[in-house]
Amino acid sequence: MHRRLAAAIGCASIAAAVAASAEPPAGAAACSGCHAASPGVTTPVPRLAGRDRADIVKAMQEFRSGTRPATVMDRIARGFTDQEILAIAAWYASQR
Ligand code: HEC
Repeated sequence: MHRRLAAAIGCASIAAAVAASAEPPAGAAACSGCHAASPGVTTPVPRLAGRDRADIVKAMQEFRSGTRPATVMDRIARGFTDQEILAIAAWYASQR
């Protein structure tokens, strides 16, 4: 019962984040300085727009726990909560 409720709340917040995709969620603006928003820009930092939501979440969690090698993302990822990461990942996944 409780688990089902928690899942429903989780889905609702993801849906809300996707529905509001025109407005970047809190924290997302901090990513675009390094992760170029425009597809026409070639940078050594991988683009996030259009990436699978689960891939972004997984990478952020691995950066945070230190299991994924990083130069800067480990420190950046530690500044974000699970909820913020979910919202940011959903927003980037909805971008082209
Ligand atoms: C200071 C520059 C900088 C900022 C700001 C930044 N990133 Fe990164 N990001 C990088 C670099 C550089 C890498 C490559 C891994 C490394 O060296 O840390 C990376 C890698 C990643 C990856 C893995 C991509 C892949 O294909 O392996 C994800 C996901 C990611 N960043 C998400 C984010 C999110 C979400 C934010 C905003 C909360 C963000 N980044 C902010 C520089 C940045």
